[in-house]
Amino acid sequence: MEITNVSEYEAIAKQKLPKMAFDYYASGAEDQWTLQENRNAFSRILFRPRILIDVSKIDLTTTVLGFKISMPIMIAPTAFQKMAHPEGEYATARAASAAGTIMTLSSWATSSVEEVASTGPGIRFFQLYVYKDRNVVAQLVRRAERAGFKAIALTVDTPILGRREADIKNRFTLPPFLTLKNFEGLDLGKMDKADDSGLASYVSGQIDRTLSWKDVKWLQTITKLPILVKGVLTAEDTRIAIQSGAAGIIVSNHGARQLDYVPATISALEEVVKAAEGRLPVFLDGGVRRGTDVFKALALGASGIFIGRPVVFSLAAEGEAGVRNVLRMLREEFELTMALSGCTSLKDITRDHIVTDWDQPRILPRALPRL
Ligand code: FNR
Repeated sequence: MEITNVSEYEAIAKQKLPKMAFDYYASGAEDQWTLQENRNAFSRILFRPRILIDVSKIDLTTTVLGFKISMPIMIAPTAFQKMAHPEGEYATARAASAAGTIMTLSSWATSSVEEVASTGPGIRFFQLYVYKDRNVVAQLVRRAERAGFKAIALTVDTPILGRREADIKNRFTLPPFLTLKNFEGLDLGKMDKADDSGLASYVSGQIDRTLSWKDVKWLQTITKLPILVKGVLTAEDTRIAIQSGAAGIIVSNHGARQLDYVPATISALEEVVKAAEGRLPVFLDGGVRRGTDVFKALALGASGIFIGRPVVFSLAAEGEAGVRNVLRMLREEFELTMALSGCTSLKDITRDHIVTDWDQPRILPRALPRL
């Protein structure tokens, strides 16, 4: 059957993957309220399209941290991609590079930073989880730097793993032929089976719950790479991120896998953008499945978006070709949205092109009463 949108890959992945793997990719935390809300909130934002504008040429290109990319659609870090497809992170890296966009590699990738770099040229960011053993962190950051990664996305919403009940029921663990490849040489590459989620146990053993803003400063003493703080949802934390030297912010709720009942990222975005006051770029991930979603995020002030699950689902279905297809479909839908809204470049997209449910009701001109 022909695939005509990004969301269709989920059902194919469900058919193809073992239940334990699919559930790990698909689930959110606890009641999965935020998981649904990440999608629903997009559907409550409507367009105010402008008409009769020459849209024969549309420019989707943009610059992220000084790197020119083909479109404001990038790849979020998702762990264990070889569980979806034997080529895993290699396939994702090639697809991102072919599309002219950025891939973020997870700390918990099943391919190492060096292996991903060996796939060829491409602009890549490295997502960092901070381990209790800071020597491990320092070594890993150095390796990412040497392998040509251009920025660190520091994930700040995971001092403890969120409660993903499907993983608990499934006793989730990595298949025996896979490891957390970046940590293999450090003797931290194996995830043991546990009597709940194996990943939750791994996190409680290795990940540093003391992580705080002073560590954002510490990170800057061990690397020159720009730091994106991934997991900000409030104006308060936006201001502290700026003071702490962050190069950018990713508004993220970790794909609704950490704290349930946080708002959808698209609902939190504008608060963060306002607090940022243009001093650093703000990005968003969470629930982006359509070109219209990309447009809505940009209209609310995002400099770009990242996609998570669509990558693992399309990888499971069709490997590299699947990820390429996801990036192509989102690109085409986004371009179409721009055309039908009367925008020919990203700077044309404004807050007035959308209306949200937190906007003031617009006062419509009324016919004057006849005297
Ligand atoms: C993630 N996410 C994530 N984030 C991170 O910082 N490090 C990681 O290793 C992972 N791993 C991971 C695995 C899977 C299967 C998912 C679904 C998510 C979160 C990810 O980077 C991103 O925030 C969300 O996936 C974005 O939401 P969507 O696009 O999946 O709705």
